Amino acid sequence: MKKKRHPPGSTARSRPAPIADHVRVEKQVAIRSDHDIVTARQEGRLLAKQVGFSDTHLTLIATAISELARNILLYAREGSLTLGIVENNGRSGITVEAIDRGPGIPDVARALEVGYSTSGSLGLGLPGVRRLMDEFEVESRVGRGTRVTARKGRG
Ligand SMILES: Nc1ncnc2c1ncn2[C@@H]1O[C@H](COP(=O)(O)OP(=O)(O)O)[C@@H](O)[C@H]1O
Ligand SMILES: [Mg+2]
Repeated sequence: MKKKRHPPGSTARSRPAPIADHVRVEKQVAIRSDHDIVTARQEGRLLAKQVGFSDTHLTLIATAISELARNILLYAREGSLTLGIVENNGRSGITVEAIDRGPGIPDVARALEVGYSTSGSLGLGLPGVRRLMDEFEVESRVGRGTRVTARKGRG
């Protein structure tokens, strides 16, 4: 019997198809109180540990997660953090999505500047998270809410 070169239904390609991101574990934490920030921080640390991040990175990732959770609590009062382990082509990493339906950020570029704060605090949260993670995106609409997504791969 002739050996089939491609399984039925597949298409021959000269290069392998890009492998889509695959979120392996996902954990959602509602943010409504200080205690929820602690929970999000702990859950994030656990997931990052499963990915195999070093202790230093575990602490940095946990800090980034608590900054995003703190922003939700402070500026939007409530929202959620979705934490996950993502895999792409054998490489794993951590994803964080912070969502709220709060007042939104009128000038995102400005909010990302070190030292910019509307609450009289240090203004290091968002720029710090951005620097720490490999991918970072803020989508916000005034009166609608804010979504911050961030990812970091191991290594
Ligand atoms: N989820 C959010 N909803 C509305 N505004 C936000 C949110 N997160 C951040 N901001 C705005 O972006 C600014 C910068 O945030 P950040 O860098 O964390 O600094 P800080 O919290 O110390 O002010 C905040 O002062 C606030 O005006
Ligand atoms: Mg902050």
